[in-house]
Amino acid sequence: MKEEMLKKFHEIFGAGGEIRTFFAPGRVNLIGEHTDYNGGHVFPCALTIGTYGAVRKREDRELRFYSMNFERSGIYHSSLDDLQPKKEAGWTNYPKGVMWAFEERGFQIPCGLDFMLYGNIPNGSGLSSSASVEVLTGYMLRELFGFDVSLTDLALIGQYSENHFNGVNCGIMDQFAIAMGKKEHAIFLDTSNLSYEYAPIRLKDARIVISCSNKKRGLGDSKYNERREECETALKELQAVTDIQSLGQLTEEQFEAYKGAIRSEVRQRRARHAVYENQRTIQAVAALKNDDLEAFGQLMNASHVSLRDDYEVTGIELDTLVEEAWKVDGVIGSRMTGAGFGGCTVSIVKDCSVDRFIRQVGGAYKEKIGYSADFYAVEIGGGPVELS
Ligand code: GLA
Repeated sequence: MKEEMLKKFHEIFGAGGEIRTFFAPGRVNLIGEHTDYNGGHVFPCALTIGTYGAVRKREDRELRFYSMNFERSGIYHSSLDDLQPKKEAGWTNYPKGVMWAFEERGFQIPCGLDFMLYGNIPNGSGLSSSASVEVLTGYMLRELFGFDVSLTDLALIGQYSENHFNGVNCGIMDQFAIAMGKKEHAIFLDTSNLSYEYAPIRLKDARIVISCSNKKRGLGDSKYNERREECETALKELQAVTDIQSLGQLTEEQFEAYKGAIRSEVRQRRARHAVYENQRTIQAVAALKNDDLEAFGQLMNASHVSLRDDYEVTGIELDTLVEEAWKVDGVIGSRMTGAGFGGCTVSIVKDCSVDRFIRQVGGAYKEKIGYSADFYAVEIGGGPVELS
């Protein structure tokens, strides 16, 4: 990849100077959905697919961006003196947002950059291509300019830029999973205090299969921010009867005892999902530690049902992928992953059933939805790196 990028870089931006190349992964969340902004637990892992970046310092304050994924858009010009979100700036709003967030934290970026990207995460798939670009940019700035920031800081800077520059009120899961990724491990993260633990993923004779619905979605336009507000309102209502700082602090029993304080049926269901999903995530990690993959799969399935019925973030495309997956022999568990409203599902499938899975789920999906889904057997990879 590196050679290919360097060649393209010279072609687009001209020869000369030192070019450095980096990689940051995408992520998939195994369980713990819509819990990260509710002070709950998540259980994501980084993938071996992700975003590659090549960068060279400039002598002025100009920023030139180029994506090998959107070649027809050509070079996008900007400047360190104009770090503002702009609709026409497209994907460059993500690296620009991270540069802005570094400056907000008091790190001055001393010179402009030529910056080229190539991503192999399917676009808009819910595998966090945007968080991957954010963490890549942060890691690259740290390495280029020696900024004193930890990997956790890079996750927080990425989230800050997403929240305040790009207008999506996301939690910390995606950026954290990407910045802290570890090969063959998922990350059991408590979002209330960012304490975490790596859990080895031993799937024996099974693997992780991503099914991409190919229904495009923009998080900003979606109901993501609305769900977050519903949970915040439910929390305020609950705080009238119990002393909690987040929905993640409640057990199922406590929730059942206090839920009457939430004055709308819809908000009760949203909060119920947040509480039960958090508990499911804790149980799922315990099941995995006991090598009880069956129990893990059942909890994944229950997670989907809750996201479908209580949280209402699935839709016919994701429901079809999951419900068809459940019918296939050799499927240990299947659920939507990420924000929802389109994007992907994650399934754990026995090796010997993967081909049948793709045929059966793919066929049923095309018939019902009218266009095809894409399938990827993925590997769990590490965090950001400079390519040598
Ligand atoms: C998106 C957000 C995350 C998280 C998930 C849902 O991926 O970026 O912070 O809230 O949705 O679990």
